[in-house]
Amino acid sequence: MLDKVPLKRTHSCGELNKKHLGKQVVLMGWVNVRRDHGGLIFLDLRDRAGITQVVFNPEISRETHQKAAQIRNEYVIAVRGKVTERPPGTVNPNLSTGQIEVLAEELRILNQAKDLPFEISDNLELGEEIRLRYRYLDLRRPEMRKKLILRHRTAKAARDFLDKEGFLEIETPFLTKSTPEGARDYLIPSRVNPGKFYALPQSPQLFKQLLMVAGMEKYFQIVKCFRDEDLRADRQPEHTQIDLEMSFVEPEDIFSLIESLMVHLFKSVLNVELKIPFPRLSYREALKTYGTDKPDIRFGLGIVDISDLASRTNFKIFTSALQKGGKVQGINAKGGGKLSKRDIDDLEKLAISHGGKGVAWFKVAEGDMESPFRKFFKEEELKELAKRMEGEREDLLLLVADKDEVVTEILGELRLELGRKLGLAEKGKYQFLWVVDFPLLQLGDEGRWEAAHHPFCMPYEEDIPLLEKEPGRVRAKTYDLVLNGRELGTGSIRIHLRQLQERILKILGIATEEMNSKFGFFLQALDYGAPPHGGIALGLDRLVTGMGGWESIREVIAFPKTQKAICPLTESPSSVNAKQLKELHITIS
Ligand code: AMO
Repeated sequence: MLDKVPLKRTHSCGELNKKHLGKQVVLMGWVNVRRDHGGLIFLDLRDRAGITQVVFNPEISRETHQKAAQIRNEYVIAVRGKVTERPPGTVNPNLSTGQIEVLAEELRILNQAKDLPFEISDNLELGEEIRLRYRYLDLRRPEMRKKLILRHRTAKAARDFLDKEGFLEIETPFLTKSTPEGARDYLIPSRVNPGKFYALPQSPQLFKQLLMVAGMEKYFQIVKCFRDEDLRADRQPEHTQIDLEMSFVEPEDIFSLIESLMVHLFKSVLNVELKIPFPRLSYREALKTYGTDKPDIRFGLGIVDISDLASRTNFKIFTSALQKGGKVQGINAKGGGKLSKRDIDDLEKLAISHGGKGVAWFKVAEGDMESPFRKFFKEEELKELAKRMEGEREDLLLLVADKDEVVTEILGELRLELGRKLGLAEKGKYQFLWVVDFPLLQLGDEGRWEAAHHPFCMPYEEDIPLLEKEPGRVRAKTYDLVLNGRELGTGSIRIHLRQLQERILKILGIATEEMNSKFGFFLQALDYGAPPHGGIALGLDRLVTGMGGWESIREVIAFPKTQKAICPLTESPSSVNAKQLKELHITIS
């Protein structure tokens, strides 16, 4: 199969058109489909750029025609021939090359292919396991190729933009020390230092701050980050960030830089014009109105507090939740009156899966309410409920009574589900949002203060006196970028003063000794003229997924892992042999 004198490819399979009529060309690619029509054989030849129809006519070359008859799907071939116009009625308007075909004079089979585990086609319902096991075939599908191209263009446009803005791309180590981003570390044993481990970085956070101390002023990196955490549709054990940091900045500088970056990316990659500035919402406002710190604001369905009204009713579930210090809140699912009993049961199940006990619902009818809970309410209470929640005919009011955080979480989830069920989120719309003023600290499960983002975020100057007295009330100069309900990135102004950094590490329960062993190198650097600085990191996988309107980030990663952090293609993680373990001074019990 190896030719002594190989043919030289002249064109891609996506570029020939009527301008090339009469030209001798050489195409190379994969056989997408073969069709035998009596004497003529037609091949759709595919490469990364597209598809071109090739015709084999025994009258042009009997030998080539005979060879073409042996060809099967996904063979790799080279074809030499002449570009000709397709006969009238056979033009394919769906192909960029649809007006021409190549009349083959010579055919070379560069490689054969076995029967494939699945067809190379976009219109297939394939299980993820098989797609990932044969990812190199999955990626041959045009839809997948487009996703990787979109990712490439986005990363390239981001690089170009940041370069123009004066940023330096600087690599930071992968074999490093633990960085506290809230997940578990992936550890790498050191062979030459028995019993010692490197950690793969959860992000380059400390290194980018050190680069500011080093006077680099504007740093960026498109970088892999590694986190051993429970996986979901938008989480992978290794993800990519567009990570950046700047010296002498305030949040406003980061907002306008990132807004311009987004305008550039969406224009140059998707030809979409974004409106800036993006709206902003404080963390508290986001939770209060939408039940989440990353709301999809393509639609309304805001949360309404009706605790005071609920306290006056005879409905035990409401009054007892309020007596226990909880609250009663609801959302008006506009137009949700058309939802079936089954749909409402599903909503209730969703509420229960998020720790709730149930949902009280009311369908608003002409001058009345339809509901199994109707009997617990007086006429005027129902009227007031409808008024407070702006309930009109065909609306569905959903009410939840519980502890504060349970109500917030459930209504946040119900709102999203209703948005989906009622088709409220406009497809193809890109709704960005900044969520700002997060708390610096939050109480963890063990009743200890934890960093809401990470321990290097700067508190608001006016809140610093509250640090020890009321840590929960201290706001941080942190910000999240949200796109259609997905957190795309987070960042903050950092602490550049050693004393303040140590004070916050102490509140986080990190004793001086641990501080020095974990971050000693970093604290020391703050002593040598660290400038004020701040930055942000955007998840590239999530950004591209959002740009394409897909659900899972696995769609835009060439070789992702499954939900169980397994790569079905390479079968990693896998066992290693005893000799390797011994060299690494590791015994497995
Ligand atoms: P953070 O931890 O919020 O911040 O991460 C920044 C962004 O990276 C993306 N991301 C992920 N994407 C896929 N899978 C994951 N497991 C995953 N984890 C995070 C998200 C997220 O918004 N050093 C800070 C940034 C800073 O303060 O500058 C950091 O890493 O889109």
